[in-house]
Amino acid sequence: MQKLSQTIEFIKSSVTLRIDSRAKSLKKQGKDLVLFTAGEPDFATPNEVKKAAIEAINKNFTKYTKSSGILELREGICQKLKKDNGLLYSPDEIVVSNGGKQALFNIFGAILNPDDEVIVLTPAWVSYIPQIEMWKAKSVQVETFAENDYLPTEESLEKAVTIKTKAILFNSPNNPTGAVYDEETLKMIAFFAKTHDLYVVADEVYEKMVYDLPHLSIASFDEMKERTLVINGFSKSHAMTGWRVGYSVTPLEISKEIAKIQSHTTSNINSIAQMAALKALSVDTKYMMDEYKKRRDLIVQMLSKAEFKFFKPKGAFYVMIDLNEFLNARTTEELCMDLMENAGVAMIPGDGFGTLGFARISFATSQALIKKGVERLTSYLKR
Ligand SMILES: Cc1ncc(COP(=O)(O)O)c(C=O)c1O
Repeated sequence: MQKLSQTIEFIKSSVTLRIDSRAKSLKKQGKDLVLFTAGEPDFATPNEVKKAAIEAINKNFTKYTKSSGILELREGICQKLKKDNGLLYSPDEIVVSNGGKQALFNIFGAILNPDDEVIVLTPAWVSYIPQIEMWKAKSVQVETFAENDYLPTEESLEKAVTIKTKAILFNSPNNPTGAVYDEETLKMIAFFAKTHDLYVVADEVYEKMVYDLPHLSIASFDEMKERTLVINGFSKSHAMTGWRVGYSVTPLEISKEIAKIQSHTTSNINSIAQMAALKALSVDTKYMMDEYKKRRDLIVQMLSKAEFKFFKPKGAFYVMIDLNEFLNARTTEELCMDLMENAGVAMIPGDGFGTLGFARISFATSQALIKKGVERLTSYLKR
C-alpha cells in the first residue's frame, strides 16, 4: 500500500477528545458527572437569530452565495469593527468562514510557506499548532506563566525570533488561561512585530467576555492594521457554535488570497447561517456576558476558599487550576481520568494546551453545577 500523508500522520490526536469521549461514555453508563469540559456557551442561540434562519429557508435563500460571504453580512461585520474596535475596513477585506477555525486555517494558508516559523504563545488552543503544521510550516512555542498573568515578555519573544519567523499568534481573551492582554503588552507585541517585520495573527473570538479590563484589538494600534490578521466569529459571542460562522479581517492583498483558498475548498458557508449571523449582529448578548461574570466570581470565590492554586481569569470562560501537588507521579491526564472516575468531575488536562500539571475548568455551565463540581473537587483532593 502507498504511504499516507506524513504531514497529517505527525499531527497528534487531541487529549481533549480522549477526555471528552471517556466523559461521554461514563455519562452514558449513568455516572453522575459534572462536566467542566465544554468549550462552548451553554446558552441557547437567541430566538431572533433562529427566526432569521427559518425565514431564510422559507424565502428559499438556500443556494450558493459569493464564496466570501454575502455582502450585507460583510458590511455588517465592518460596522461592528468600527463600533466595537474603532477599525475601518471594507467588505472586501472580510471573508466569512466556517467558524473562526476555518478563518485561521485560511490565514495560515495565505501567509505561510514550507518551513516558515510562527511564534505561538502558550498555553494555547489545541488547533493552532496542527493547523500551522498542515501548511508545512513550524510553530515555535513561547510559554507564558501564571506568575506573570500569562502575558509574554519582550525577552521571551526576542529569544524565539529567527530569520524564518513569519508571524506571531496570540489569543486574547485566552483559551485556556483566561488572560486578557493589556495595552502595555499589546504595545510591546506591536513594537516587536514591527521591528522584525512580522504578521500578527490575533484570535479575538472571546472578545465579548472580559471581566476586569477592556478588550483591545492590536489592529487598532499605530501602523498595525497592515500587518494584523484578525479572526473572530459568532460561536462564543452569540452562542452559535453549531452554526459555523466566523470571519477573517485582513488587508486586501491577504483577503484576496484567503478568498481563493476558500473558493476552492468549501466555497461559501451555509447560506442560512449567513442570514442568522446577519441578524445576530443586531442582537445584544450582554445578558450572557453578565452571567459569565457571575460564574467567574463564584468559581474564583470557591476555589480561593478551598485554597486551590489557580489563575483568576480576566476573560473567556475558563480557569486554569494548578494540580501539581496532587499528581503523585501521575501525568495530568491520569489525574484528570481519576477525578472523572472517582470524584465525578471532568476537566481538560493542560497537556494539550502545552502546560503540564494544570487542568482547564470551563465555567460555561450553571452556577448550581459550578458549586457541585468545585465541592466535589475539594472533598476529593483536599480530604
Ligand atoms: C481560542 C479559540 N479560537 C478559535 C476557536 C474557533 O471557534 P469557531 O470555529 O467555533 O469560531 C475556538 C473554539 O473553541 C477557540 O477556543
